[in-house]
Amino acid sequence: MFETLVRVPPDPILSVSAAFQADDSPDKVDLGVGVYKDEHGKTPVMRAVRTAEQELLAEQSTKTYVSPIGNTGCNTLMTELVLGSDHAGRKADLSLAQTPGGSGALRLGAELLQSARPGATILVSDPTWANHIPLLGTVGLKVDRYPYYDPQHPGVLFDRMLGHLDAQPAGTIVVLHACCHNPTGQDLTPAQWSEVASVVARRGLLPFMDLAYLGLGEDLDRDAASVRLMARAVPEMLVAVSCSKNFGIYRERTGVLIALGAGAERAAITTGHLGRLARTLWSMPPDHGAAIVQRVLSQPALRQDWMTELSHMTRRINGLRALLAEKLSAAAGTDYGWIGAQRGMFSRLPLSATQVGFAREQHRLYMPPDGRINIAGVSPANVDRVAAGLIAAVRS
Ligand code: LMR
Repeated sequence: MFETLVRVPPDPILSVSAAFQADDSPDKVDLGVGVYKDEHGKTPVMRAVRTAEQELLAEQSTKTYVSPIGNTGCNTLMTELVLGSDHAGRKADLSLAQTPGGSGALRLGAELLQSARPGATILVSDPTWANHIPLLGTVGLKVDRYPYYDPQHPGVLFDRMLGHLDAQPAGTIVVLHACCHNPTGQDLTPAQWSEVASVVARRGLLPFMDLAYLGLGEDLDRDAASVRLMARAVPEMLVAVSCSKNFGIYRERTGVLIALGAGAERAAITTGHLGRLARTLWSMPPDHGAAIVQRVLSQPALRQDWMTELSHMTRRINGLRALLAEKLSAAAGTDYGWIGAQRGMFSRLPLSATQVGFAREQHRLYMPPDGRINIAGVSPANVDRVAAGLIAAVRS
């Protein structure tokens, strides 16, 4: 039977890691997959996570099943973190499910939407994360795009974005990157978010917000502000939250899907669907990461330490942005200040796939074919080489 299968194209992001690992050049620089790296180029286990993990291992008395919607403590604490003080007033409207990573939350949300409205249209930004369309577009929803980013004059095509959304029929689903847009790093301003929320509410669109980098743009509250604003504007929405990056627990696969509906009865029905869908997809999500998150967020000392380390990581990324922008501007003789003003792990250089190949072959710089770079892969030690290699690629 397997002879009917044809070869799949390589994953544009994960294949970069494989190629990077296979290169034995001491000069290679990994600007690929979105993981945080410290000044030694390592992706560390965060202090609070390490402590919580050790305590859990010492105390855990069973490994029996939890449930299809996972660790309810983790779900509630993460939702409080996302919705902030608005959470208390919306408890009755919430349906929550813990998922295998933010990707699991995106998939579970798409499955829920397909159950509620089969074949509905779901719009993603142009461009968007390389895995959005595969994850969201294979459940039966119809995927389309809305204009978002202008690579020629790095910035949001805001009027075109807003006009496009304003022309959609009610019930259209809109995927919005809540902060740290992937792959461009170009976020909406608070004023632009207000305008988007007004259009979404007025047209009766359903926002599906992807919050994969909470805390890694500015800080926890400012990064969640778009979600809080939207939650106040619309009766129904979905939020896919990832704990991978901000807790550094990538391989533990921990995320939460938040469904906000109007009223307790609707919320109870929605929770039932989330449990049933999860049961058919993965039966139950892995617990280890969720148990860590619950512990870190519920114990004040661990929580404080986690927040301190997270804000150090964010400041470091933003410092590297400024440094890279300065070095690129100097190497190119043109202004790359926009890289310093963007947020999150990524920016996207104006490079074709051929130029990305040149950067890899000639300068050992590894990035996906769309020219996205992981800023956390830059360091004070390699920034001159990275800037020179990127500018050589732009000119090649
Ligand atoms: C990325 O965009 O690099 C990360 O979200 C990792 C992934 O799974 O693609």
